[in-house]
Amino acid sequence: MQKLTIRRPDDWHLHLRDGAMLEGVIGDTSRHFARAIIMPNLVPPVVTTADATAYRDRILKALPTGDRFQPLMTLYLTEHTSLDDVEEGKKSGLITAVKLYPAGATTNSHGGVRDLNKAMPVLERMAKIGLPLCVHGEVTTPEVDIFDREAVFIETALDPLRQRLPELKVTMEHVTTSDGVNYIKSAKANLAGSITTHHLIINRNAILVGGIRPHYYCLPVAKRESHRLALRAAATSGDTRFFLGTDSAPHVDPLKECACGCAGIYTSINTMSCLAHVFEQEGALDKLEAFASLNGPAWYGLPVNDDRITLVRRHDAVTFPAKIETGAGPVTVFDPMFPLHWDVES
Ligand code: NCD
Ligand code: ZN
Repeated sequence: MQKLTIRRPDDWHLHLRDGAMLEGVIGDTSRHFARAIIMPNLVPPVVTTADATAYRDRILKALPTGDRFQPLMTLYLTEHTSLDDVEEGKKSGLITAVKLYPAGATTNSHGGVRDLNKAMPVLERMAKIGLPLCVHGEVTTPEVDIFDREAVFIETALDPLRQRLPELKVTMEHVTTSDGVNYIKSAKANLAGSITTHHLIINRNAILVGGIRPHYYCLPVAKRESHRLALRAAATSGDTRFFLGTDSAPHVDPLKECACGCAGIYTSINTMSCLAHVFEQEGALDKLEAFASLNGPAWYGLPVNDDRITLVRRHDAVTFPAKIETGAGPVTVFDPMFPLHWDVES
């Protein structure tokens, strides 16, 4: 196949940041994607509907002229989140989901939830009004090995929560293990999962073999090869419970290339090329539209986009810059370590 036309995709997990970084990265998303679920882990985080309204307005203001893009806003769940504010946000159409960061799990998560019991009243209200919970599914217990944190979270936090509140719709974000894939597949209802571009391409060797490579470090950290293969099988299966959430998470290079580097991989700019490559390798180009453009809206109860994009397979490799320059500083672009041939026709 040399050409593939699909419904315009959406990104169901995206970090746009704020200020000069927001201005520097948003065009890479709005070029291809119609909508994205915007992560609320700013400093300070997006906690209230008022915070989310102001952040949405800053995003819309930063959009390149002519681009139509709809940010789908989320609230950062805390142990003090107001039930009525959450309900208000959902009713007004502003809030698409609430995000649970276990405190300390990842970048800017220290204000997250320490004790899930304290968040139960909000979660119960969300279940009642049909507002989904997006979950960063990792425990933060120091004793638990970083490569096991997703599996342990499922067993000790997610499954108990879902048994207690089966009506709550939960998105397990950036699934990185076969444990996550199997858990989602085993659920009867109200559970789905997003998968990133990079977790379909790299395993943990990318971070550690031949030297420490900070631009392949993200959270949840990439796991061993068998897990990557499970993610690829899930993403390319057409199963409606799996969809794209790039987790594109820009940090300026000095904050990644240092003794204690930040977690996050920047993929907005080349995600569609990378995905077409992966789906082609799996003999599943016919499933790319489900993964990138259909399954997400179905899960969130939104219409699919009415326009389309066309991917073209070029004879010569399609190149992307190694870094983008933002007003906040340079950001290294995800290098899949193989030549890309699929291009989005402009
Ligand atoms: C994200 C970030 O930088 O905000 N980092 C990452 O590695 N994915 C946070 C997150 O989603 O865990
Ligand atoms: Zn993220």
